[in-house]
Amino acid sequence: HSHSVMITRKNRLGVMHLLLLLGVVLACQGCPEKCTCSSQTVKCQNQDLNAIPHSLPTNTKALFVTGNKISRISAESFPTRLLLLTDLYLSGNKMESVEEMVFENLPNLVRLDLSNNKIRIFSAKAFPDDNKLQIFNLSGAFFNHSYMNTALSFLRVGNLLQLTSLDMSNNDLVVLPDGIFTGLSSLTNLSLQNSSIISIQNGTLKVPPLHDLDLRDNSLRELPNATLAEFSLKPDLQLHLAGNPWRCDCFIEDLVVWLKSSDQVADVHNLTCVEPEGLTRHPLLQVEKSQLDCNYAGDMKSVLETSYVFLGLVLALIGVIFLLVLYLNRKGIKRWMYNIRDACRDHMEGYHYRYEINSDARLANLSINSDV
Ligand SMILES: *[C@@H]1O[C@H](CO)[C@@H](O)[C@H](O)[C@H]1NC(C)=O
Ligand SMILES: *[C@@H]1O[C@H](CO)[C@@H](O)[C@H](O)[C@H]1NC(C)=O
Ligand SMILES: *[C@@H]1O[C@H](CO)[C@@H](O)[C@H](O)[C@H]1NC(C)=O
Ligand SMILES: *[C@@H]1O[C@H](CO)[C@@H](O)[C@H](O)[C@H]1NC(C)=O
Ligand SMILES: *[C@@H]1O[C@H](CO)[C@@H](O)[C@H](O)[C@H]1NC(C)=O
Ligand SMILES: *[C@@H]1O[C@H](CO)[C@@H](O)[C@H](O)[C@H]1NC(C)=O
Ligand SMILES: *[C@@H]1O[C@H](CO)[C@@H](O)[C@H](O)[C@H]1NC(C)=O
Repeated sequence: HSHSVMITRKNRLGVMHLLLLLGVVLACQGCPEKCTCSSQTVKCQNQDLNAIPHSLPTNTKALFVTGNKISRISAESFPTRLLLLTDLYLSGNKMESVEEMVFENLPNLVRLDLSNNKIRIFSAKAFPDDNKLQIFNLSGAFFNHSYMNTALSFLRVGNLLQLTSLDMSNNDLVVLPDGIFTGLSSLTNLSLQNSSIISIQNGTLKVPPLHDLDLRDNSLRELPNATLAEFSLKPDLQLHLAGNPWRCDCFIEDLVVWLKSSDQVADVHNLTCVEPEGLTRHPLLQVEKSQLDCNYAGDMKSVLETSYVFLGLVLALIGVIFLLVLYLNRKGIKRWMYNIRDACRDHMEGYHYRYEINSDARLANLSINSDV
């Protein structure tokens, strides 16, 4: 009898140990250090972390590791498969490199935010081929202009087939690399706001489903005919173009004509000329064709004015030099004057003498006589 009691006691102890162990395991599977977890959202924000916390709850749907000091993410950043994770926020870190296979264990990732980082390297193999990424934020994500072209080559791989929304604002792009969006066959929303873009070349925005294109606050002075024609081929496309330094000369004529007839520019009333001076802050919609000229009449006038002033100055200088020469040569001139005077006097005296001779009757007779 006592023997059997001993056994049950032993069993109870074992069960208790088991429960304890389970508790410890659950705690490990629970919330990582420096994170807060609620329902299926894990937040590890502004904690000076330099890596993604490991042992995340396997049922995590949304993970926020923002405002930390993570400089690289690689396949080791997500060692366990997180099948339910759809939203990943990594903005405001000091991310420099996004390495290959990093999102391999997040097969259902839909939303990715890498904004405000310092990315120099972005592996072309970062995303698995069957990824489900739809919304991607790369606003202010890159280190500087020098790294844009290579860092963006992952977009050309052509495996972001479900991407609908891409935010590339606040990057120093300047020009759009050739065919950069061509592989994004589902892209509808594209923001290129404040990206120092100076021109849109023919074909760079050749994305069939594009629906919303934000080009505000760039450095566009005009849009060429070919680009306008491309926009017109997508009647569903809405554009935002305000905050660009439009130059209202003859080259913008096609754009003005197009703006007046198109309803594709959502902020068309907010487009204003920056140049020339006479049209500053003038709405593009109110500019008349006759005002758009490249003769630069105003400029010509000022050029003429300055050349007149210059001519005057040159003449004044020549005058001054002339006077100076006269002054420096004053002695010589005096001598010269005296010489002339003397010569005149001699001449005059000679004349006078001859006159006197001629006028003296006696001498006249004498001369007549002598002639004889
Ligand atoms: C992208 O991130 C920036 C900064 O974190 C934010 O201001 C912006 O609204 C985000 N873009 C989208 C489309 O959510
Ligand atoms: C980008 O940063 C690198 C390294 O700091 C520098 O050498 C390069 O000049 C920068 N490029 C631009 C366009 O600022
Ligand atoms: C525009 O983008 C630059 C980076 O290219 C950034 O430094 C600046 O803060 C952005 N401006 C605004 C108003 O967001
Ligand atoms: C996409 O653009 C439409 C307007 O065309 C806007 O209503 C929608 O919120 C945008 N979506 C995203 C994710 O930015
Ligand atoms: C631009 O296109 C319009 C209409 O398609 C045409 O009338 C105009 O002549 C073109 N301008 C140039 C410079 O090709
Ligand atoms: C623009 O590119 C398309 C092909 O991408 C070409 O057919 C068309 O002629 C080009 N237009 C101009 C004006 O270069
Ligand atoms: C035009 O600019 C005004 C003032 O800057 C702003 O309030 C308005 O929302 C803008 N309109 C559009 C369509 O962006």
